[in-house]
Amino acid sequence: MAVLITGGAGYIGSHTVVEFIRAGETVVVLDNLYQGHPEAVQGVHLIEADLRDQSKVVKILREFDIESVIHFAANSLVGESVQDPLKYYDNNVGGTRALLSAMTECGVGRIVFSSSAATYGEPVQVPIPETHPQVPTNPYGETKLVIERMLRWCHVAYNLASVSLRYFNAAGAHPDGHIGEDHDPETHLVPIVLSVALGQRPHLPVFGDDYATQDGTCIRDYVHVMDLASAHHLALGRLREKSVCEAYNLGSGSGYSVLEIVEAARRVTGHPIPVVVSGRRAGDPAVLIASSEKARTELSWRPRHESIESMIASAWEWHSKHPLGYGRA
Ligand code: UFG
Repeated sequence: MAVLITGGAGYIGSHTVVEFIRAGETVVVLDNLYQGHPEAVQGVHLIEADLRDQSKVVKILREFDIESVIHFAANSLVGESVQDPLKYYDNNVGGTRALLSAMTECGVGRIVFSSSAATYGEPVQVPIPETHPQVPTNPYGETKLVIERMLRWCHVAYNLASVSLRYFNAAGAHPDGHIGEDHDPETHLVPIVLSVALGQRPHLPVFGDDYATQDGTCIRDYVHVMDLASAHHLALGRLREKSVCEAYNLGSGSGYSVLEIVEAARRVTGHPIPVVVSGRRAGDPAVLIASSEKARTELSWRPRHESIESMIASAWEWHSKHPLGYGRA
């Protein structure tokens, strides 16, 4: 019996693969490698395949005697999703629909799904609880919400057990420095700040300093990628105990502004990291902070890397050793 990890060659997926292996699980990774990196899953059984190829997925589930699925595979750029929404419906919704059909066909009854804080849209309550209205403001968040709803109906109809994990802002890298964040194009704050410290960019563009926050820049809830990884294993443990359909927020519960992240990165790297204030980025809420009480209570989730310095220091370890990302160090 094995656990299938879709999108396991991506950023959060590859860290979760390491965590599952550490916990003694047998893991098979499925990734179409459009965005994933084979170097991130060295020594792991990697199958290059696309979820939309349903008959191939059925074959894989049978051949490897898959008992549960951890599902990361998706497109995840908010801006791109606004430019090309059908790409997101096709890959995220279409890919998951094919995966769920293959699972029901083969009798695989458990799935942990990568959802997102983007399903909430503009918050009306902070910290955000799981019961907060879900009104996404972009197609990326919308596709994640559609999938959560699909999972609910699949639980009713086929007794397919699921946990949707709504991530806030993932940051950091594996403590041993062998895997980390490498997106192309890179849009996330922490890697961009660190690329300035590496001299690869002249400055950080700060997207707006006129928000209703203490220093005028947006506040986000950063959570270490290894803590996200451990939550997936706890979520699977819950599904193995009981056939539920649940959603959990994953965040640290603390908010940091863009300028506070830059300050922390200056302390970690010793680089001045110049910033230039530019206009607001469309669709950015001023403040996103999770309430993760439900995950702490029901999954016994205990984030281990809560200080922002430790998150940035582990990301810095990766970026400074791999300034050009995977396969280019
Ligand atoms: N930012 C800058 N300059 C940059 C990059 C980012 O000022 O060059 C700011 C953004 O405007 C935002 C903050 O830094 O205020 C964090 O931005 P990220 O792009 O790192 O992360 P987001 O909060 O936009 O997105 C994250 C996830 C998405 C998810 C979203 C949920 O990366 O996948 O949270 O709201 F959809």
